Amino acid sequence: MSYPREYESSLQRTEAFWLKQAGNLHWFKEPSQACTLKPNGMADWFANGELNMSFMALDYHVDNGRGDQLALIYDSPVTGSKARYTYRELRDAVATFAGLLKKQHVKKGDRVVIYMPMIPQAAIAMLACARLGAVHSVVFGGFAPHELAVRIDDAQPKVIITASCGVEVNRVLPYKPMVDKAIELAQHKPANVIVYQRTQCQAELQPPRDIDWQQGIEGVTPAECAVMHGSDPLYVLYTSGTTGKPKGVVRDTGGYAVALKYSMDVVYGINQGQVMFTASDVGWVVGHSYIVYGPLLAGATTVLYEGKPVRTPDAGAFWRVCAEYGVNVLFSAPTAFRAVKKEDPEGKFLEQYDLSKLERIYMAGERLDPPTYEWTTEITGKPVYDHWWQTESGWPICANPVGIAEHPIKPGSATLPLPGYDVRILDYKGAEVATGEQGAVAIKLPLPPGCLTTIWGDDARFEQGYLSEFKGYYSSGDGGYKDDDGYVFIMGRTDDVINVAGHRLSTGEMEEILAKDSAVAECAVIGVQDSLKGQVPVGLVITKDGVTIADNELSERLVQLVRDEIGAVACLKRILVVPRLPKTRSGKILRRVLRQLADGEEVVVPSTIDDPTCIDELRERLS
Ligand code: COA
Ligand code: AMP
Repeated sequence: MSYPREYESSLQRTEAFWLKQAGNLHWFKEPSQACTLKPNGMADWFANGELNMSFMALDYHVDNGRGDQLALIYDSPVTGSKARYTYRELRDAVATFAGLLKKQHVKKGDRVVIYMPMIPQAAIAMLACARLGAVHSVVFGGFAPHELAVRIDDAQPKVIITASCGVEVNRVLPYKPMVDKAIELAQHKPANVIVYQRTQCQAELQPPRDIDWQQGIEGVTPAECAVMHGSDPLYVLYTSGTTGKPKGVVRDTGGYAVALKYSMDVVYGINQGQVMFTASDVGWVVGHSYIVYGPLLAGATTVLYEGKPVRTPDAGAFWRVCAEYGVNVLFSAPTAFRAVKKEDPEGKFLEQYDLSKLERIYMAGERLDPPTYEWTTEITGKPVYDHWWQTESGWPICANPVGIAEHPIKPGSATLPLPGYDVRILDYKGAEVATGEQGAVAIKLPLPPGCLTTIWGDDARFEQGYLSEFKGYYSSGDGGYKDDDGYVFIMGRTDDVINVAGHRLSTGEMEEILAKDSAVAECAVIGVQDSLKGQVPVGLVITKDGVTIADNELSERLVQLVRDEIGAVACLKRILVVPRLPKTRSGKILRRVLRQLADGEEVVVPSTIDDPTCIDELRERLS
């Protein structure tokens, strides 16, 4: 089938299209209906189908003669360890760990928070929750206790699963004290904390609340797969919004399974037995979809990598992994490739490795800037694809549909909307703009399978945040345009969300933290361009009258405050103490003007500005 026919079919004959895709998976009871429309314009997907995600991802392959095939390869240059799990071994490890969770009374619908480094046990914990029908919520290991506490209070988990430590480049980070601190900060107290002890650091346990993973699984009865309905939640994944309170994106089970399987064929062209290396983290949606669930649903081998693109030990790290495991598809964020480019601009490391199996390279998490695209294409000689998606969508919205028909690549574009996504570019009134004109990128409802169903415990926030701006559409929060060939160019966020080294962060949240400091009267945090990380935050603060603290001292204090509250990943390293901020006459800080000043762009000063004289003063400080 050609792309236009497949695309039209997905939008015109939605029901038949998605039921056909659902037929590519093994259900306990096949769904008789794909889409049930809801009053808010969204859809429930495969609600009457019965399945278990863990079964589809593991047991099904074992039962069909692929038990000895590799399911997961663990490669950890930061600890010098490697491990391999066949589908049978992974299924057994998951069933056993699910048995331990069951022993702790975890059952269908209960929430389990997973705060883990990039070790196989993180994936095992996720799949074990899925096996029992418990809703997992993975929290990125780089987040500080306060962030973990906020998520604990929102998700109200029965159990937290963690490891004794994470290992960063040249640094062991004990996790257990952070979990203890988070539980202390949170109102909600989980019944148990299960700790996987790593050799790099032993965590102190407080029985009976704390359970040692390795001891706990001894003699436990492996758990069977629970029967789930298509619309039952599989997980909640928190992502940054415009305020300090993260949004718990709820993912269903059936729609997600169907969408992921479809994307493995259409976007990544990955088949049974092939190898996918997604260099991300299980704490992000990319990790959920394409380290854990997607490759396993496809019967492929996934590489779980605990390391960086550089410094572990060098800029050849990705190429080494690709060569060692015969990787067919490599996926990471542009920032990772920029890091490699910076240290090895001529691709010297690449020459040491046999990359003949590597077919394609994918990037997402931020816009793939044309120079990084050109460089990666040139030094690898492989096709390099940008594709656009979000935590909310769970799978790509725009991509080059190589599994249907490969389209010419246009640098700077994520290519075409995938089947199921009716992507439109709208002006502020909700009318479609002309080709080539920038606007808000929106998706006509209903969203296809796999996308978020709501915000955990807050339907009103979901509708307010995503469905209210343009009636009948989902607002993506991104701005962009389409060209004459229908290619979509995503140009950046239109809200207070920034992308720092592929990590999605809220400047609004950082502002809330800075504003808590006793010396700060007012503040603004903006994302400014950075050649490595894409964007980095910069804070501007006005101190209260009578404050005598030196600017550099205050700056250090505020940097530390954000590091303590959000975590080092926030990368807020620059704070400027300023006398004034540009504001409208109604008192709204003109963040766009600040961004333009910092990025050295032409500054468009709105006529509503209160005091234009502060612009020159700030230009000097920000440049
Ligand atoms: N646990 C604890 N701390 C973590 C962490 C984790 N999982 N991940 C990052 N951090 C810390 C780092 O140690 C660093 O701390 P420091 O300021 O004390 O040095 C800080 O957070 C910033 O980390 P990072 O953004 O990773 O910067 P870096 O300079 O160490 O590395 C890159 C830069 C580009 C190599 C790295 O960001 C990278 O590999 N990015 C790819 C991102 C990605 O995969 N995104 C997912 C979307 S696809
Ligand atoms: P996250 O939810 O963390 O995956 O971040 C999603 C956001 O990252 C999107 O809303 C975009 O702003 C940005 N993003 C992700 N992929 C791309 C891409 N290929 N091109 C442009 N922006 C992207």
